[in-house]
Amino acid sequence: MQPRETHLTQSVTHAAEALIEGKLVAFPTETVYGLGADATQDKAVARVFAAKGRPSFNPLIVHVPSLEDAVALGEFSPEASELAKLFWPGPLTLVVPRRKGCPVSLLASAGLPSLAIRVPKHPLAQALLKAVRRPVVAPSANPSGHISPTTAAHVRAGLGDKVSVILDGGPAAIGLESTIIGFLGGRAALYRPGGLAREEIESALGHRLVQAEDAKKPSAPGQLESHYAPKAQLRLNAKAVKEGEIYLAFGPMPDATFNLSPSGDLIEAAANLFRLLHEIDATGARVIAVAPIPDRGLGEAINDRLKRAAAPRS
Ligand code: TXA
Ligand code: MG
Repeated sequence: MQPRETHLTQSVTHAAEALIEGKLVAFPTETVYGLGADATQDKAVARVFAAKGRPSFNPLIVHVPSLEDAVALGEFSPEASELAKLFWPGPLTLVVPRRKGCPVSLLASAGLPSLAIRVPKHPLAQALLKAVRRPVVAPSANPSGHISPTTAAHVRAGLGDKVSVILDGGPAAIGLESTIIGFLGGRAALYRPGGLAREEIESALGHRLVQAEDAKKPSAPGQLESHYAPKAQLRLNAKAVKEGEIYLAFGPMPDATFNLSPSGDLIEAAANLFRLLHEIDATGARVIAVAPIPDRGLGEAINDRLKRAAAPRS
């Protein structure tokens, strides 16, 4: 008898049942925690928007356990299939044309003819998706405009009263949302930098990614300029801390209480980013001064999130 595993299997079954009943289930993925709902039920999808307080023009990512399940929902070009085969399961979302007869609620994609699909790698996400046997929409499990959750405790603090089940799979390994790739005029385009570095995708494809349209446009991801925002103000590229600020360091700095990565590792920094912003916010800090982060590898996604977090609030 392995009581822990039995317990886990029971929670997954219970969570899958809740989804089928149209309820909301928060679950871990390797990127961030997702706020899941059965993608085929309009009402369940609507509950996601309501729980997050999200503007309804913002489309959601559909999660499935395998490429085979993804192909049933969307049309994969040769390049889309290639990326899926290379990087799924993993921190990559592909935006593809919706297949005719696709059962996903139109509300999920905010009426767009395309669908954002992802196959997550986290074992608990995989177990849940296999148990529910339906596509699951899951935005990050935070109130709209807040920092994405990388632990079950973050979800409980932000949305605890709005979800039926929270599956706890420990801290998210990557800590940044998935990279989103769309296909513009048949060419792969970067819609949102994320947990899979642009360079990895480009070297797999053998060519550069097209730069996606203006990030402010509502059909593009991360369209809201102020997003991922902590309560504190952010001052970016800060080489030193000023009076009254709390410093978020990067690289060797023995005196720093909060350091994204003392060894200067961008993967570690990504994994720590949202958790540290949560922790600094909890101190009641008014201003967070953030050290400069190199713009290569996962640094591109980290800087994207930091810029949004620092943008003037609307
Ligand atoms: O890592 C992740 O991607 C996490 C985990 C839970 O999977 N999910 C996540 O979802 O970050 P969310 O809802 O916070 O971000 C989804 C992004 C949005 O910026 C949205 O605009 C974009 O995906 N998106 C969804 N459908 C799209 C579509 N059809 N065309 C273009 N962008 C789309
Ligand atoms: Mg989000």
